[in-house]
Amino acid sequence: MNILIVGEGGREHALAWKAAQSDLVESIFVAPGNAGTSQEAKTQNVAISVEDIDALIKFSRENEVELCIVGPEGPLVLGIADAFAKAGIKCFGPRKAAAQLEGSKSFAKEFLIRHRIPTATYAAFSELQPAIDYIRKQGIPIVIKADGLAAGKGVIIAHSEAQAISTLEDILDNSLFGEAGASVVIEEFLQGEEASFMCMVADGRVLPFASSQDHKAAYDGDKGPNTGGMGAYTPAPVVDSAMFEKIMASVIEPTIAGLQADGLPYTGFLYAGLMIDEQGIPRVIEYNCRMGDPETQPIMMRLESDLVALCLAAVDGTLPESAEWTDRVALGVVLAAKGYPGGYEKGRKIEFDELPGNASDIKVFHAGTRARGADTVTSGGRVLCVCALADSTKAAQTEAYRAIGQINWPGMWFRNDIGYRAVKREQG
Ligand code: AMP
Ligand code: GLY
Repeated sequence: MNILIVGEGGREHALAWKAAQSDLVESIFVAPGNAGTSQEAKTQNVAISVEDIDALIKFSRENEVELCIVGPEGPLVLGIADAFAKAGIKCFGPRKAAAQLEGSKSFAKEFLIRHRIPTATYAAFSELQPAIDYIRKQGIPIVIKADGLAAGKGVIIAHSEAQAISTLEDILDNSLFGEAGASVVIEEFLQGEEASFMCMVADGRVLPFASSQDHKAAYDGDKGPNTGGMGAYTPAPVVDSAMFEKIMASVIEPTIAGLQADGLPYTGFLYAGLMIDEQGIPRVIEYNCRMGDPETQPIMMRLESDLVALCLAAVDGTLPESAEWTDRVALGVVLAAKGYPGGYEKGRKIEFDELPGNASDIKVFHAGTRARGADTVTSGGRVLCVCALADSTKAAQTEAYRAIGQINWPGMWFRNDIGYRAVKREQG
């Protein structure tokens, strides 16, 4: 069959790479894709933007697409799954109403509280003065979140009252995030270790994915500004089998039951961002209605089941309860452009030398790249994600950084310590 993958990042390159391994698949179209997706077997890019839903449906009809897999949240929140359903084409991704779990922070918080799923205490505001009064009462540190989608920039952790107040003024009075900041969620600052917990959901059924952890801060030691994620690895040692059971029982199962109870049928990837405290209690920081980026890249390297068969089973109501994974560890390091996560350079030619090691254990996923003639040039802030599969986190880390030694462009930079927590645990 022909399938369409919507998106253009490292996540979509990893999904396309994995989908290409499926015997069910004849052709994969990626809209709009990147230089990496265009080089995969069976795969070609289509120049349609992720939010041009009418054009995506027209293309799908003309090219006998039988399944659409949606990467990013933007089109889901706009209703791409509803539009494909109406067009009679299978689509793996939640409907607009359920995608509100990511599209509106206050919707997500109300859902969490209503279904007694552990999360930070909060209040929501659209007026400045009551928000300031609340912050004065709660004290700092405190977390301020724009209610809507703000391209990953809408979360501010305020370490002083002055910073909290000026942040509120920027968002509520000066429209820093436009409509997405018409209201804010103000939330208790949680401490602990973060983990990403993703699953495939099909109405009442759930298939948990391998656990993972990403590094959101820009610089080594988890310092510096927040980014989309500078690297990730799977499994996350903090999610041992006891923690896995606890997360399923206290977060994932109540989430699935809650969606059912609220009349929000959900078919698609679901991502719970968790903070696990010193007592071992996992709390939900956020939901995403999609896979994580860069977590997807190492996760796809460990998945041994047929991704396309799983997506079809989900849409057809026969999602199995588990998938096959290799026991090995996968770790990915993001290579970023000069200036990221602020304004960054584009159009730099990327030099690749032959990669070291066993080719099947190293994979370079493209994120912000495009082809320029025979060259590959940078076109985004996060440019590549270099992944390695090995028998330990330490070995995967060593192999990933060895591969990075073969890649270069002017201004390329990366974190040097991806996976450090897991490596420390491994070394006892
Ligand atoms: P988000 O955009 O919701 O993924 O938030 C970005 C990052 O901000 C998260 O990955 C956490 O590191 C941090 N964060 C968000 N909410 C909280 C919270 N309530 N307490 C502590 N850290 C938080
Ligand atoms: N890496 C975090 C996210 O995709 O939201």
